[in-house]
Amino acid sequence: MLLEIKGLRKTFDDGTRALQGVDLSVKLGEFVVILGSSGSGKTTLLRSINGLVNPEAGEVKFFDQVISSTTLPDLRKKTGMVFQDFNLVNNLSSLNNVLTGLLDSSNSLMSMLYLFSREQKMQALKCLEMVGLLDKAYSRVDKLSGGQKQRVGIARAIIKNPTLLLADEPVASLDPMISGSIMTLLKNIGHKIGLTIICNLHQVDLALKYSDRIVGLSGGRIVLDAPTKDLDEEYIRKIYQGHGSGLFFNEDDI
Ligand SMILES: Nc1ncnc2c1ncn2[C@@H]1O[C@H](COP(=O)(O)OP(=O)(O)OP(=O)(O)O)[C@@H](O)[C@H]1O
Ligand SMILES: [Mg+2]
Repeated sequence: MLLEIKGLRKTFDDGTRALQGVDLSVKLGEFVVILGSSGSGKTTLLRSINGLVNPEAGEVKFFDQVISSTTLPDLRKKTGMVFQDFNLVNNLSSLNNVLTGLLDSSNSLMSMLYLFSREQKMQALKCLEMVGLLDKAYSRVDKLSGGQKQRVGIARAIIKNPTLLLADEPVASLDPMISGSIMTLLKNIGHKIGLTIICNLHQVDLALKYSDRIVGLSGGRIVLDAPTKDLDEEYIRKIYQGHGSGLFFNEDDI
């Protein structure tokens, strides 16, 4: 098993119980969508996996190794992240943004000077080619469209050749047509380089169309975990309607 999460709990300082005992195992090569309405705990779950959130209970195992402060750097090396608002450096080119995917906080000097090798630049160009954006390699990212920006975000996430890709609502800032093309790209890249993908979404239709498996969150708990081929919109709606007040999807989400 690539990832095994057991009994994960997170209560924020203000008392918000964001995760209330989450168990989740993810196999190598799976494309899992975490589906849930706003506030259901999707981001907290994703950020608990790579140590950006410290859960108060439970454990995360990556390749059978419990994640702790000593093993976290290894997980981070093998994990790429894609964000809703792209998180790009606006005054840099696509190429340089992709190269920042090779940095970690310990080499800030390198991040200031951009002392990347020829091989690293070639690797970045290869990633831009994979996301169909080679012709924009030297364009500043603030001149790109939203969909193009997210392609740069994906290229940056895969330059380290990760095993696991964590995508937090990667299409929430994009219109429906572009959203489809970004989801297709994620799925195709996943197949091509053998990536395991965990992708947070709030759109049921996108989850059904692109994932192998849907994990539904509601109020910090898993309320659904099934292969996508066994699910349809009506079934998902019923599951969520059984889960108490204030935990429904918004009308817009379904
Ligand atoms: N830093 C924080 N401090 C306090 N409460 C927080 C913090 N981050 C998240 N929460 C709360 O924890 C709960 C889960 O939040 P989370 O961001 O994980 O949800 P989400 O499913 O990602 O929502 P969205 O779809 O809006 O991104 C929410 O009630 C949220 O308000
Ligand atoms: Mg979120």
